[in-house]
Amino acid sequence: MSPLFDPRRPGFLADPYPDFAALRAREPVHWCEGLKSWVITGYDLCKQALNDPQLSADRISPFRDSLGETERRRIGDLLAMLEDWMVFADPPRHTRLRRAANQIFPPRVMEGMAPRVQAIVAGLIDGMAERRAGDLIRDFGFPLPVMVIADMLGLPLEDQDKFKVWSDDLATFVGSAQLTPDKRARAQDSARAMCDYVHAAVAARRREPRDDRLTRLMALADESGELSEREMVATCVLLLFAGHETTTNLIGNGMLALMRHPAELEGLRRQPELTEAAVEEMLRYDGPTLAMTRIALEDVDYGGTTFRKGDRIFVFLAAANRDPARFPDPDRLDIAREDNRHLTFGYGIHFCLGAPLARLEGRIAIRALLARLGAPALAEPAPEWIDSLSLRGVGALPVTFPS
Ligand code: HEM
Repeated sequence: MSPLFDPRRPGFLADPYPDFAALRAREPVHWCEGLKSWVITGYDLCKQALNDPQLSADRISPFRDSLGETERRRIGDLLAMLEDWMVFADPPRHTRLRRAANQIFPPRVMEGMAPRVQAIVAGLIDGMAERRAGDLIRDFGFPLPVMVIADMLGLPLEDQDKFKVWSDDLATFVGSAQLTPDKRARAQDSARAMCDYVHAAVAARRREPRDDRLTRLMALADESGELSEREMVATCVLLLFAGHETTTNLIGNGMLALMRHPAELEGLRRQPELTEAAVEEMLRYDGPTLAMTRIALEDVDYGGTTFRKGDRIFVFLAAANRDPARFPDPDRLDIAREDNRHLTFGYGIHFCLGAPLARLEGRIAIRALLARLGAPALAEPAPEWIDSLSLRGVGALPVTFPS
């Protein structure tokens, strides 16, 4: 008998939404043997889970405990860094790490990046304008956020290729559907390289302070004693990582959805004032986050089922965003949709720190792209979805623009 839900089924990643709909209707709280985890797919339950102090965001400790001594030592730097990431921390540690990051990156700082984002977007579009073709990931969606976040932290833009390699290696580790020893080794090397890189940048600023956010983060760490140097470095690596893979995929998935819905694409070109609503709809309809996981800290009742202490739960944000009980006609891409409170940035204490920046980048990027280059059309080869159950995006998105 085939399982009710099988995310390893070929074709699942290309279009997981029918599987989510079937599961939500049959078993909104489901034990998935393949994942050895609970799976939740309804909007209300997902929201409840993300905001539930009985469900821990620390997925690193159980993973570390599952490893033998040798392996644990072999990837020790990687584990140490991930343990310092606020996204994997519970209160009170989370509260302290998040408070420090909020002080350095309040929403107004991110919104203040608009002129820089516009300049970077314009430069990247220039690169594609003459050719009237390009790969929307390689030429646009990838470099934009990495340039913005490097700029915001005060790190040199020339190093963006390094950030990409390191970040890709971390992404395969953090979000991989299948974790092989090779992926672990690559993530370990990249975690160490990334931490060394930020340590060196910190040391340079200790010798010669600059007017940038990294210097301010250091000052905060030194003056308030709120963050150790190790935590500060890990926070910068988290920002470099979280700040680009996801935003790249907002642009990639969003443009792909528009190209597959030409009437909506045309509508947005005619009414660019809808861009803000359209970006929210792109985030809901096929956003960059598929699932977040949590671990039960004790026995907890969910929708008539009991999660046992130590059980893992996949909170499928992408499924929640298509719940017909929350969103009318959920499988329709509607760039003018109202009351669009999707869960793509999470919910509760871990709600995405970078949401204002991601929204800003998405709005400026989509608006400028359509205004300057016209409606793109999909070119060959067909896009392929990356192998991950947490991040959702395509590896490449070749397009042509009208001449
Ligand atoms: C479209 C782009 C983005 C999406 C969809 C996204 C999504 C998310 C989600 C779902 C979470 C919650 C994780 C959880 O509950 O386990 C999160 C947390 C986080 N995001 Fe984002 N993110 C995006 C862009 C960014 C950017 C641009 C930055 C940084 C500049 C960033 C930094 C963070 C950080 C630091 C956290 C951890 C917050 C905490 O644990 O308190 N994200 N993001």
